[in-house]
Amino acid sequence: MSFTLDSLRTPFASASLSETDPLNKDAGIVSPSTNDPDWWRSAVVYQIYIRSFADGDGDGTGDIAGVRSRLGYLRDLGVDAIWFTPWYASPLADGGYDVADYRAIHPSFGELAEAEALIREALELGIRTIIDVVPNHVSDQHPWFQAALAAGPGSPERERFWFRDGRGPDGDGIPTHWVSDFQGETWTRTTNPDGTPGQWYLHLFTPEQPDLNWNHPDVRREFEDVLRFWFDRGVAGVRIDSAALLVKDENLPEVPKNPQPGQHPTVDRDELHDIYRGWRTVADSYPGARSLVGEIWLPDIERFAKYLRPDELHMAFNFDFMARPWDAANLRASIDATLAAHAPVGAPSTWVLSNHDVTRPVTRYGREDSSFAFAAKRFGTPTDLELGTKRARAAALLTAALPGSLYIYQGDELGLPEAEDIPAGLIQDPMHFRSQGVDPGRDGCRVPLPWRGTAAGFGFGPEGAAQPWLPQPESWARLTVEEQESDQGSMLWLYREALRIRRRIPAMTEGDFAWVDAGDGVLSFSRGTGFLCVINLSSAPIELPEHDSILLSSTQLVSGRLPPDSCVWLRTQH
Ligand code: GLC
Repeated sequence: MSFTLDSLRTPFASASLSETDPLNKDAGIVSPSTNDPDWWRSAVVYQIYIRSFADGDGDGTGDIAGVRSRLGYLRDLGVDAIWFTPWYASPLADGGYDVADYRAIHPSFGELAEAEALIREALELGIRTIIDVVPNHVSDQHPWFQAALAAGPGSPERERFWFRDGRGPDGDGIPTHWVSDFQGETWTRTTNPDGTPGQWYLHLFTPEQPDLNWNHPDVRREFEDVLRFWFDRGVAGVRIDSAALLVKDENLPEVPKNPQPGQHPTVDRDELHDIYRGWRTVADSYPGARSLVGEIWLPDIERFAKYLRPDELHMAFNFDFMARPWDAANLRASIDATLAAHAPVGAPSTWVLSNHDVTRPVTRYGREDSSFAFAAKRFGTPTDLELGTKRARAAALLTAALPGSLYIYQGDELGLPEAEDIPAGLIQDPMHFRSQGVDPGRDGCRVPLPWRGTAAGFGFGPEGAAQPWLPQPESWARLTVEEQESDQGSMLWLYREALRIRRRIPAMTEGDFAWVDAGDGVLSFSRGTGFLCVINLSSAPIELPEHDSILLSSTQLVSGRLPPDSCVWLRTQH
């Protein structure tokens, strides 16, 4: 189905809270207290994919200077923290998730002193900084791996990784048939200095990302030290990449057909908990509540919650909810399971609509199958962006009203669709190449943000800058920050308004959650007293329940009724 950009800009009804409103926690701007030990429990965290946020030096790649120049934008959006995808020295074989030096900034992104300045400046605006630490693997250019290659078989240097002789008399049999998260094999054979074939090494992702051996004390010590390095520089939290993969079964068995929990050779092994207890001890040794958030993809929510026990991680991303289709019963089941699993460990839930790895919500929600699965990504899957945008608006209000912390991926607040027409020669993502071109890869959600103007580049860099490292669709001229700032029907306006109200109504972050009966295809829940969220996933408009006033609606009401694929926040008596 075709769409016009005008139809993406649905005007919405909004009644602002007055300064004297009794629901206001604070009539002025609430700047997050740097002393609040629980800040992370209801924080709004904005994910910055640094290559694509803003380009300060004009080379076509985003950088720290670009972020520093846009801190005002983030303050106005109303976020409590920013999470940077890896900004370290790296060959960028996997967009920076192949780290060559955990204590140095990639020269395209800036210098360490700039990172330190950014952390300070953001905090002055009440915005905390979270960095991304990648502990499962390093870059093949990391000094440890280079030393391991040079030192040869049997050396202590190789013990920090997973080097193994191949099977069979010639050693040409692969040590295991574990399948990479990026498809294909997980072992690569090295070449000896004399040119003969050598040992194999393990990489769950690309060959440029050799896996570390977490049974080795050097590895444990090194990462605790990396945490200290960044905590010393004032970061308030760490996002842990591939957090459930670090530990492997040393016997290297093949993956059983139906592995019992904890029995998979590379996923969710029990020894991980001890590692994270160590990390928590490091985090807790700093003032100001430094938080740990894990990237944990696990189907078993009980196992998932174990990582969130009080002496382990503070939070983990809720990918179950993110991957669900646009369907009332499905979303409700995920919300229920999430809240039930988090309650016993006392951890907050997180709500995530997307990130730098998955299809943008406005594209996904416009598809016939609106669930998300890496394995299902294909070129040319039709979408209705008008419908997708309507649903993404509703989903933004739904997630902002649920209890816990909220993660927003850069560009979702602009309603950017997935860029699906990146020319083949410009695609960079190894997921695409390792699937032999079947999987379109993740570049489509990593395209540089459009800030202003109508000409290509859209203000991503300064005047006269090189074109952005990935091309922006021309249609994004209508989705620039500049355009949306002056348009009350824009996605940006909706996000700002939602976060402003969320800050001002304590019930939205502190109030008890309770479902309210609302009929088929409709989800409705209250938070504390006086706040009700209603989301219509049915195919017909619905009457609003009794209420005092409308705080915010994702779509214009029609004769007082809430249209399909819409969400409204109501102020109520009870
Ligand atoms: C995580 C990151 C992803 C990266 C992978 C390997 O899933 O989010 O972008 O490619 O880990 O580090």
